[in-house]
Amino acid sequence: MIIAIDGPAATGKSTTAKSVAQQLGFLYLDTGAMYRCVTLAVLNEGVDIKNSDQLNDLLSEIDIDIKMEDGSYEIFLNNIDVSVEIRTPDVTRKVSAVSAVKDVRLSMVRNQRKIASKTDCVMEGRDIGTVVFPNAEFKFFLIADSYVRAERRLKDLRAIGEEKSIEELEEDIKRRDEYDSSREISPLKKAEDAIVIDTTYLSIDEQVSRIIEIINIKQ
Ligand code: CDP
Repeated sequence: MIIAIDGPAATGKSTTAKSVAQQLGFLYLDTGAMYRCVTLAVLNEGVDIKNSDQLNDLLSEIDIDIKMEDGSYEIFLNNIDVSVEIRTPDVTRKVSAVSAVKDVRLSMVRNQRKIASKTDCVMEGRDIGTVVFPNAEFKFFLIADSYVRAERRLKDLRAIGEEKSIEELEEDIKRRDEYDSSREISPLKKAEDAIVIDTTYLSIDEQVSRIIEIINIKQ
């Protein structure tokens, strides 16, 4: 079974999807983390994303691995734990441009389908219900007010020792949503049959129980 959770930046997709997966005993896959890994590799290697030879060489060399142990979730890029590095502002600034490139998407979507072919999975991202798994059994689309999202992102950043103003964060979030929604390939868009959950006034526990309730009722 596939449960797709899509939506714009900082709507609580990751925390919600992780918890839903834990409660159901499903695998959790954060596809944004995969695009962030490619972006980190692009930055580290100084790859020009407009040069398709350079980019494809990089894509064929990188190995992204996700490990879940004792409730912790770690992302490895070529065997190095990059869980913190992929959340830095440098990566966040560049990730939308990298994710808009066709070859990057083809490679990541192939991986995502392969991972989920083996097991039940809660997969979160931007295009899971529309492109990666249009036939997913359950599709949710999370939204929230942009100021509230900026406040949440500030908390995440402080946890990794970074600081930014709320105004700057809200601008970043809006810019990234605009870029993700207007790109040509796999834009951020609600699947017609997705259930919308507005998380502005919900706690994580409330978001999670709402989703679990819907799954239990419909199953
Ligand atoms: O956690 P946050 O909401 O900031 O974003 P993320 O889920 O880590 O995703 C980072 C970026 O990756 C997004 O802004 C998209 O540009 C891209 N992405 C995508 O294109 N397709 C996905 N399935 C997931 C993420």
